[in-house]
Amino acid sequence: MRQTWRLTVTRPFRFILGGVLLIVALSLVAIPFTGLLISKWSQFDVQSRSRLVLRAIEGPVDRALTSGDEAELAALLEAVARDERILGVGLCDESQRLRGATRLMPPSFSCDQIDLPGVESFSRITSEGLPVFAASFPVGPPEAPAHLIVLHDLSYIGARLAQARTLIGVALVGVALVTAAIAGLLLLLVMRGWMTSLRQAVEDLRAGKPQSGERPALSNPIQTLLKSLDAGRAPTDSPDVEWTPQTLHNLLLDALPDAEVIVVSNREPYIHNNTDEGVVLQTPASGLVSALEPVMRACGGTWIAHGSGTADQETVDAGDTVAVPPDDPAYRLRRIWLTEEEQDGYYYGFANEGLWPLCHIAFVRPTFRESDWHYYTQVNERFAEAVAREARTEDPIVLVQDYHFALAPKMIRERLPKATIITFWHIPWPNAETFGICPWKEQILEGLLGSSILGFHTHYHCNNFFETVDRFIESRIDREYRTVTLGGDETAVRPYPISIAWPPKALAAQPPVEVCRAQVRAQHGLDPDHKVAVGIERFDYTKGILDRMRSIDLLLEQKPEWKGRFTFLQVAAPTRSKLASYSRLQEEAVELADEINARHGDGDYRPIRLLIRHHEPWEVFRIFRAADLCIVSSLHDGMNLVAKEFVAARDDDAGVLILSTFTGAARELSEALIVNPYDGGEMAAALHTALNMPPEEQRERMRQMRQQVREQNVYRWAGRMLIDAGRIRRRQRILDLAREQ
Ligand code: F6P
Repeated sequence: MRQTWRLTVTRPFRFILGGVLLIVALSLVAIPFTGLLISKWSQFDVQSRSRLVLRAIEGPVDRALTSGDEAELAALLEAVARDERILGVGLCDESQRLRGATRLMPPSFSCDQIDLPGVESFSRITSEGLPVFAASFPVGPPEAPAHLIVLHDLSYIGARLAQARTLIGVALVGVALVTAAIAGLLLLLVMRGWMTSLRQAVEDLRAGKPQSGERPALSNPIQTLLKSLDAGRAPTDSPDVEWTPQTLHNLLLDALPDAEVIVVSNREPYIHNNTDEGVVLQTPASGLVSALEPVMRACGGTWIAHGSGTADQETVDAGDTVAVPPDDPAYRLRRIWLTEEEQDGYYYGFANEGLWPLCHIAFVRPTFRESDWHYYTQVNERFAEAVAREARTEDPIVLVQDYHFALAPKMIRERLPKATIITFWHIPWPNAETFGICPWKEQILEGLLGSSILGFHTHYHCNNFFETVDRFIESRIDREYRTVTLGGDETAVRPYPISIAWPPKALAAQPPVEVCRAQVRAQHGLDPDHKVAVGIERFDYTKGILDRMRSIDLLLEQKPEWKGRFTFLQVAAPTRSKLASYSRLQEEAVELADEINARHGDGDYRPIRLLIRHHEPWEVFRIFRAADLCIVSSLHDGMNLVAKEFVAARDDDAGVLILSTFTGAARELSEALIVNPYDGGEMAAALHTALNMPPEEQRERMRQMRQQVREQNVYRWAGRMLIDAGRIRRRQRILDLAREQ
């Protein structure tokens, strides 16, 4: 701090000193130089004037001298002597006699005071105490030669010089005053900055935070983080930092002390359902939930979500909250109750029939209805209101999740202007042309730009967003710093590729892989060495479930040797079944499976088994561990966490991942067999390759992918956003202090 003060405060003083020296130097040089210049210029001026006099009367004077007409001569000379600076005009003849001298010619002047060399000449003399400039020009015929004498009063030069000196003096004083004013201003600014730092330091001291130059004993990863944060690097990109729940927790304490975390999402992390066996707790099949739940366990806070379970109302307290996870509470779940109309309009309608197909390239037409938009707006308002009510501080960190809440960031900002709002868009963002069909595109963009940070999975989606903003609303886009400024508020638009917890919770109680293999095969009546492929997801048309089934059909047709030796288990959780596009998909999948099974099956052998029900995470992980390969054939997907979960489940370093090139995950898991799900032939070939892949190659690929998922886990994802949020908050705090000055 002291060093900074010295550096910043001495700078204006140096500026002042430099200014003073410059002014002195200028005075020393400028004044004599100006005098010289003025006198040279004046001399040049009087010489020219004298020549003009000569030229005006040269001819008539010659004639008067020839004729000896003294009266004519005197009249001629008097006529040119009217210029106020001409003292006198006369003629000096050969015998140095002054002839025809004008009226004002100084009486003391005589011809022997000047040289008469027979050519033009100039000299300075003193006459009657005045400085006088004398010019002489030879005139007259050869028989009566003479010199025309013109005397100029030079006393005006002195007056000019004095005037110039005064002007220069005034100018230099002016420069000095401006310099002093600038220096004073600089000094004031530095003093203000210093006062702000001082206040901050006092505040930090009060809060028990370290002062610059002295760091508390921190755990190593956090020390690395804070150091690189200070250095302006992206610390989370450093593989040296291992991200765990503890790292995230420490980060919150160190970089965001006292920050209150509030999550807003449609889907809740824990659903209570009434069943015949009583109230049962369900963990939904949701990438969003599997990513955020471990983060909230590490950070604590409040998660606000739609209470969708049949027993949800029975399990909350008077404030509609319940502590979760129920077996080891770490944060509060605040449930919001939605009417059926609200669910139909906001969730099924605008979110899932409008925005979902709009953002995914799956060739399903988006539907936009005025009534859906009404409910979407209303539910966004209700969640924003809940955030304002639940917030215990004026500046919480609010994590707004997904396309269900495009309007909420702006609404929250209106209620909590000091909140740090981080919005994460879990699905792709389309190009501007595609987005342009949405009738409420401007409102959606403005809603999202209420965020402090807006995150997407990939750079590509960020660029699509910039392009969309550029096309449809008036704002300032800074592509270098990746920000959009709307109405004076800045939103940082960044890629944060989402991930899963490492190690995943569902892996903890898993038996060894051999046991999982045996259990799952036995459950489906398959031989111990039977090859098993799996696909696990929500029953969604974006997942390419039909396409992968067709590729299995093709495989069995092209490589019949796999018949009877290979089975594909499709685990699909029913989702959004109220919508025709989803229920139709389910029907089509059942029909297609029957068709393929009829074509290639035999007796008990059915190459495709559809397991259409919700599976809890431990069941999903058991199937992953039992499989020889996993197929993720999304037609379009923001990230796809199933691919990462399969990799995380395989602590035996075995198994092959077939992964669609149209997922965000394909950018990170390049050791998978990357396929185009629209190309059935390519998928069938990838299946054949996977089924034949030697264990060593599987191990090599799987190890690389596991390392990637371990390092780039969900704690790093959240950490990167929170570090950016910390920077924004610090910057905001400095600006607020500066404003208070
Ligand atoms: O991928 C988008 C998304 O909202 C995810 O965040 C989530 O995993 C999934 O869809 C769940 O959808 P829903 O909540 O409609 O079941």
